[in-house]
Amino acid sequence: MSANTIKHVASPLARQTLLDGQLTAPVAGVRPIRILPWLQVVKIGGRSILDRGHEAILPIVDELRKLLPEHRLLILTGAGIRARHLYGVGLDLGLPVGSLAPLAASEAGQNGHILASLLAPEGVSYIEHPTMADQLAIHLSAARAVVGSAFPPYHNHEFPGSRIPPHRADTGAFLLADALGAAGLTIVEDVDGVYTTDPNGPDGKRAKLLKETSAADLAKHEGTLPFDRALLEVMATARHIERVQIVNGLVPGRLTAALRGEHVGTIVRTGAHPA
Ligand SMILES: Nc1ncnc2c1ncn2[C@@H]1O[C@H](COP(=O)(O)OP(=O)(O)OP(=O)(O)O)[C@@H](O)[C@H]1O
Ligand SMILES: [Mg+2]
Repeated sequence: MSANTIKHVASPLARQTLLDGQLTAPVAGVRPIRILPWLQVVKIGGRSILDRGHEAILPIVDELRKLLPEHRLLILTGAGIRARHLYGVGLDLGLPVGSLAPLAASEAGQNGHILASLLAPEGVSYIEHPTMADQLAIHLSAARAVVGSAFPPYHNHEFPGSRIPPHRADTGAFLLADALGAAGLTIVEDVDGVYTTDPNGPDGKRAKLLKETSAADLAKHEGTLPFDRALLEVMATARHIERVQIVNGLVPGRLTAALRGEHVGTIVRTGAHPA
C-alpha cells in the first residue's frame, strides 16, 4: 500500500501535540457557544434545605412552582446528612474515595427524586445524568423545569488526594451550568450568603456577610465556606458563568429575587469574563 492511496483528513490539530497551548490556540482559543443560554440552574442544599423536611421543603417548592412561568430551570439537589453518615461508615471500613463518591451521589439523587415528585403536577420530572447529557433540551421543551443530582459523576474516577470526595454538589452544579452556558447559577442555603466566618460556628457573633466577593479572594480565605472548596477551583477557569449567587432558601422570596437579577445574598465573581 503506497502513501498516496491513504486518505488524509485535513485537521488543524492533526500533526500537533495537544500539549502546546500556542499551537492549539487558533482552534481551542475560541469562546465555546452557550448551549442553553436561557437556562437558570438552581442548586438546592441537601443539608441546609432538604434534610429539614416539610417546613423548609414545601415553601421552596412553592417558590419554584411560581417561578416556572418566568424561568426555565435545571434544579439540582445536594446530598445532605445521609451522605455524611455514609462517609462515616465507609471511612471507618477503609473504603477508597472512588467508592464513596458514587454512593454519596446516589443520596443527592434521592433528594432530587423527592423534589421532582413534589413538582410532578407541573410536569417536572427527575432525570439521570446520561439523560441530562443527551436530552436536556427536549425535556425542557416538554416542561418548564427538570430535576437532577448536583453531584458530578466522577464516581470511581473521583480524584484521589483526600478521603472525602472533593467534587461534591456545588462543584457539580457549577460544572454543568458552565458547560451548558446557562444564564446563571443560584445556590440555595440556610444562611444569608457567605460570611467572614461560619455564622453558626463558635465565632458566629463576629461573622459578617460578604455581599460581593470573588473566587480568587475566597481561595485565600482560610476558614470554612458554605460550599465545596473545589467550587473555587472550577470557578477560576469558568468559560461562561461570571457570577454565582448564594441565597437563603429559608427566607421566602430570596430565590425569586435572585433570579430576577436583584442583589440578595452573596454574589461570588468567577474567573469568566464578559464576551
Ligand atoms: N463562611 C461561611 N459562611 C456562611 N456559612 C458557612 C460558612 N462556613 C460554614 N458555613 C455553614 O455552612 C452551612 C451550610 O452547610 P452545607 O453547605 O454543608 O450545606 P448544604 O449546601 O445543604 O450541603 P449539601 O448540599 O452538600 O448537602 C451553613 O448553615 C453555615 O453554618
Ligand atoms: Mg452548601
